[in-house]
Amino acid sequence: MELIAKYHVETDLPIAKAAEAIAAEQSTGTWTEVRGADNPLAARVIRAEGTDVEIGFSEELFEPGNIPQYLSVVAGNLFGLGALKKVRLQDVIFPESLMRAHKGPRFGIEDARRILGVYDRPLVGTIVKPKVGLDPKGTARVAEEAVRGGLDLVKDDETLTNQSFCPLIPRLEAVMSSLDRVERETGKKAFYAVNVTTAGDQILERAEEAVDHGANMVMIDVLTAGFSALEVLSRNVKVPVHVHRTMHGAFTRDKAHGISMVVISRLVRMAGGTNLHTGSYMGKMAKETQENDMSRDALRNEWHGLKRVFPVASGGIYPAKVHGNLDGYGIDCIVQAGGGVHGHPDGTAAGARAMVQAVEAWQKKIPLQEYAKDHKELETALKYWGS
Ligand code: 3PG
Ligand code: MG
Repeated sequence: MELIAKYHVETDLPIAKAAEAIAAEQSTGTWTEVRGADNPLAARVIRAEGTDVEIGFSEELFEPGNIPQYLSVVAGNLFGLGALKKVRLQDVIFPESLMRAHKGPRFGIEDARRILGVYDRPLVGTIVKPKVGLDPKGTARVAEEAVRGGLDLVKDDETLTNQSFCPLIPRLEAVMSSLDRVERETGKKAFYAVNVTTAGDQILERAEEAVDHGANMVMIDVLTAGFSALEVLSRNVKVPVHVHRTMHGAFTRDKAHGISMVVISRLVRMAGGTNLHTGSYMGKMAKETQENDMSRDALRNEWHGLKRVFPVASGGIYPAKVHGNLDGYGIDCIVQAGGGVHGHPDGTAAGARAMVQAVEAWQKKIPLQEYAKDHKELETALKYWGS
């Protein structure tokens, strides 16, 4: 069995030659002939046409379970090869032998839904804003308002970890005690994804400490912390894992060079994320419709029996942007807004209600403007941010 890696390649060389150069560099070869040309670990060119290249790598080239090593092969030195002007890893087909070494999510879409008791609609979440600057009590106040307004998930922003202005454990305890109070009073359950991202030798300890102090979800910035850090969390920590993709634009944004979001999505599912930011169909980040579709499918379609992962639409979303994201992601997604909740003229709880109302309107197939006639928070949001 082989691992098949699919690349977009731009080069002045004949494409077949460029493909051979990638196959050699990433398996047994170098820039010149060396002894052992019939090495069974040599990769082979499956396809080289136009700008499309497919390389087959023997499964024996890989150490099962070692995602960093997989990446060193399929996404390693080739990006710097002088003979290639541009190269982008578009997708990877993993052989069963490597997939068997990974358990995928401990908590998938169905588990997260069961915990919340929410089955028939998209989840609606928020990122606490301002991004940094609130203390633990301030964070808890914002979180409580958001959940009272009807949100299912509150998360830290990607740059908030355990800084002195808002230390993690006091923040977590304050938020969880607010969410517990809301649940006691209203029955409404919600996740708080506390960002446990830190150095590799501390992340598991930090996440376990968070769970001991009541965390019901942990969050990781997977591209800065590493896929192995995610995998160690998913295997050992008994709560769902929310995965932020900060830094992805450095290699996903250029459609001719880098790594596609589809590959990141596959690796996150393999390593055990429950939710993954996959981009928005309408929002503040660069528009990526085709790649959003592919990432969504990589997370949710049947894949070696692994549990399904929530795609998360996030970044510049507010009520008028909800339908465009839900048209793309459907019911099994999380739609999130930071500014689009906390920036509402009537505050966080009203902003949360407006987001929930926008989701309801989408589900009921009622035009937003019409739904807003009987829903004042939505009406205010549409007036303030546009519709
Ligand atoms: C995120 O982490 O997804 C962003 O902080 C989203 O924030 P915004 O909704 O205010 O753009
Ligand atoms: Mg953010």
